[in-house]
Amino acid sequence: MVFTGVIGKAGRQADTLRRVMGKRQNNMPSKVLAVSSGKGGVGKTNVVANLALALTRKGNRVLIFDADIGLNNIDILLGLAPRYHIGHVFNGEKTLEEILVEGPRGLKVLPASNGWQELTTLDNEKKMILLEDLDRLMGDYDFLIFDTGAGISSNVTYFCSAAHETLLVATPEPTSHTDVYALIKVLFQKHNQKKFQLIINSVKSEREALEIYRRLTDVVDRFLSHVSLEYFGYILYDENVTRSVRQQKPVVDLYPHSPVSQCILRLSEKVIETRNRIPEEGDRPFYWKNIFEVR
Ligand SMILES: Nc1ncnc2c1ncn2[C@@H]1O[C@H](COP(=O)(O)OP(=O)(O)OP(=O)(O)O)[C@@H](O)[C@H]1O
Ligand SMILES: [Mg+2]
Repeated sequence: MVFTGVIGKAGRQADTLRRVMGKRQNNMPSKVLAVSSGKGGVGKTNVVANLALALTRKGNRVLIFDADIGLNNIDILLGLAPRYHIGHVFNGEKTLEEILVEGPRGLKVLPASNGWQELTTLDNEKKMILLEDLDRLMGDYDFLIFDTGAGISSNVTYFCSAAHETLLVATPEPTSHTDVYALIKVLFQKHNQKKFQLIINSVKSEREALEIYRRLTDVVDRFLSHVSLEYFGYILYDENVTRSVRQQKPVVDLYPHSPVSQCILRLSEKVIETRNRIPEEGDRPFYWKNIFEVR
């Protein structure tokens, strides 16, 4: 294992490493998913909130980490008003447990801050604090989901490379295709991440989603031949999503029988199916290993 760029405090880190690696050898860890896209406004936060809720409905314990750390979103979408956020953890005032808030159906959320510019790029020390605290919490959950921000910043690539699966969200807009491709390229080149799942959001039909998927895989196969982009599913365009956002309630709760909610339920079933898929060596980066390979 390579420990590139890990900050000082060697004793503390080695301790954490032993604890974490010991745990990895003995237990199946929680499944860690990152939802990202490159382009902003394509529906990442809606996917995270609704997917998480669909998973809790099926009896899973789910923790959402709002990894759009400087610009919170998920709590607003879920109608929560947290008093504390990740900034309070980094400045030593609170622990992760103390900032946890409960959302609908027992879903748990670790809120981000809003407008704390210094958190838009996490330094290695903050990543380390996060690692230790998340490690403590992980055992209580079946799924940990990172809702990343837009773009290809180091925060975004950090959370994607730290997850077992990266779910990428694209829409029919061509700019979302170029941006998702840019993100894949950075994750492959900087973090050696080779496997990605694609969700196509806001489509008129599955046929449209499959066409977009085909076009994107053509480009990926041509220019990034070691990368595999798998089709994970589609979400229909539905005004009920906008209505739900305005009411700060997830669409799967507000309009459970709408076609869009059915799409999300199908995605949640797929997430559950892949829960026990153990990543093969070289298949994709290994969660904790990558957290130590901080760049
Ligand atoms: N399937 C859908 N049908 C209709 N509208 C949608 C759908 N998905 C998302 N939207 C709309 O797109 C807007 C942006 O969604 P969301 O905030 O989830 O995107 P995001 O990718 O998380 O954005 P950011 O990059 O700013 O974090 C929402 O307010 C919602 O109205
Ligand atoms: Mg968002």
